Amino acid sequence: MSWDVQPTTSEARNNFSRRLLAWYDLHRRDLPWRANRDPYRVWLSEIMLQQTRVAAVIEHYHEFLRRFPTVKKLAAARASNVLAAWSGLGYYRRARMMHSAAKVIVCEQGGKFPTTEEGLRELPGIGRYTAAAIASIAFEQPLAVVDGNVERVLQRISGEQLTGEKLWSAATGLLDTTRPGDFNQAMMELGAVVCTPRAPQCLICPMMKLCATRGELKATTSPAPQKKREIHYSLHYRNGNGRNGRVLLVQRALDASLMPGMWELPERSAIEPTRKPHLSLRHSITVTNYTVRVWRSATLSRTVGTWTPVGRLKQVPLTGLARKILRAADII
Ligand code: ADE
Repeated sequence: MSWDVQPTTSEARNNFSRRLLAWYDLHRRDLPWRANRDPYRVWLSEIMLQQTRVAAVIEHYHEFLRRFPTVKKLAAARASNVLAAWSGLGYYRRARMMHSAAKVIVCEQGGKFPTTEEGLRELPGIGRYTAAAIASIAFEQPLAVVDGNVERVLQRISGEQLTGEKLWSAATGLLDTTRPGDFNQAMMELGAVVCTPRAPQCLICPMMKLCATRGELKATTSPAPQKKREIHYSLHYRNGNGRNGRVLLVQRALDASLMPGMWELPERSAIEPTRKPHLSLRHSITVTNYTVRVWRSATLSRTVGTWTPVGRLKQVPLTGLARKILRAADII
């Protein structure tokens, strides 16, 4: 049986959401941001979950809330501390925007979160998706969301390559207005754990009877090709006793388009054919796959940088790659 994603009868809509919500009530993952509907927590989870895996988010979510448990604490924090707590998640602009939005909420709105989509969208870094997610999950506003998971679910169920506004109106047409927050999370959850991009688990899918595709929908466009690059860094490390060691870091330009003001290892160009790198690892950023070679360097180097105590690295806004290298080198 195929499914019209613009159901015309309330019975069809109810059938869809009844199945979906029954499945969600039984099988939803026990994720920390589902423990309550505090808008600050919902907002933080939604921003962190954009383009980042759930497992990586969980680790950072707890630590971020430990450091900044309320929107007031976040607003009062120094930018470098906010970036340090974000380190490893990537997309640092999202952290800067959250920090700015927290200041607006505290300084201009008496610490109260806007409860409407319009009010939320006026805040820095909150677009259509995030506003609808916060409004529906924290305030039960009847607004549907579309993210990558919801898009795939809707396309497979309808058997159509829906795009743009058509996706938003399909999601809105199916929304359960009595439980909009749960409905939205159930759609995202289904896409994340059952209706996965590769090898969807149709046999256990609660929506199988209603699905026009049952499997992967044939793609009409091929994914962007990945570029390959090799990149070299110097690791200047003065061994101390554990946390007393120091590592040489450099700060990225404050006006750099990517990760401005964050700290990393000094990049180097010359490689020495007679030596082996201290370590090699892989790192992907959007469409580029990097092979990263790290060269241990003499402690007395002419590289200009800051010798940073290992014990202080937690407070330093390191780039995700710098953190990964220091972990791989067993320094942190
Ligand atoms: N992806 C983004 N937000 C989510 C949520 N609240 N539940 C499941 N997946 C998500």
